[in-house]
Amino acid sequence: MSEPPTFSLTDKVIVQFGGTGLLGRALVDALAAAGATLIVASRNRAALATLAATQQAVGHPVQIEEVDIGSAASLATLRDRVLGAQGRIDGIVFNAVSRPMSGYADDLDHWRASMDVNATGFFATVRTFGDAMAEQGSGSIVNIASQMGSIGMNPWLYEGTSMSAAPDYFFHKGGMINLTRYLASHYGKNNVRVNVVSPGGIYNPDTPQADAFLERYGKMTMLGRMADAPEIGGSVVFLLSDASTYITGANLPIDGGYTAK
Ligand SMILES: NC(=O)c1ccc[n+]([C@@H]2O[C@H](COP(=O)([O-])OP(=O)(O)OC[C@H]3O[C@@H](n4cnc5c(N)ncnc54)[C@H](O)[C@@H]3O)[C@@H](O)[C@H]2O)c1
Repeated sequence: MSEPPTFSLTDKVIVQFGGTGLLGRALVDALAAAGATLIVASRNRAALATLAATQQAVGHPVQIEEVDIGSAASLATLRDRVLGAQGRIDGIVFNAVSRPMSGYADDLDHWRASMDVNATGFFATVRTFGDAMAEQGSGSIVNIASQMGSIGMNPWLYEGTSMSAAPDYFFHKGGMINLTRYLASHYGKNNVRVNVVSPGGIYNPDTPQADAFLERYGKMTMLGRMADAPEIGGSVVFLLSDASTYITGANLPIDGGYTAK
């Protein structure tokens, strides 16, 4: 009889990019609880230190590294540091996002600043770390996109609130989903899998979204509500684990049925 699939990340060296925001922290919780040797890399040293202390307090010795995804040199330094310390990299999670653009009429410099991180920085990250995993002959890349990478903007959701949806987000999340397919094809021969998850909107308990938005958003989903951040982690753990060794090039919606309705 064959062994049951393992969802554990024990003994796997995982680098997570972006770990201090609402979803980032929840992913750290999930990956650390699944047993990963976890290196969390982002820009804000103070926020990283708080994250490490919080994880330490619950028995998860998460490592932290400062990186600027907009800099190829910073990414190469991080890759070399991880390989030097751990000897291998089994997976990465690209969860970072930069939001310099606040609305449709914003200056084009804000669009360019967004692309520096969310398009160029994203590609530089997956190529730098994907090549390292290709050389090893195994690895898993999980990109965090959004349902907004597959659907249009719905102005009705935001009516009467101060909320809005910036256009760059729809461009780079859509690009992330299709570049994932290209990367899966590129790295398949090296046994490096590349997948993307597309979360729906996540409820923020610290600064809750407007009531009108929450009510309308709930109506757009099959489950009648936004996601809670911890509900995203299980799918990411699955895609990093040996339970998904024949899944590559996939886009997994985690959106309460929003895009299926
Ligand atoms: N919050 C939601 O409702 C929602 C829904 C769907 C998808 N997502 C996606 O989930 C991911 C994480 O969301 P979040 O709410 O935790 O975001 P966040 O904005 O709170 O955190 C983003 C992280 O990216 C890091 N970062 C930004 N620029 C960087 C750079 N140049 N170099 C290194 N690190 C950098 C930040 O330090 C931070 O850790 C994003 O990709 C987001 O688009 C979020």
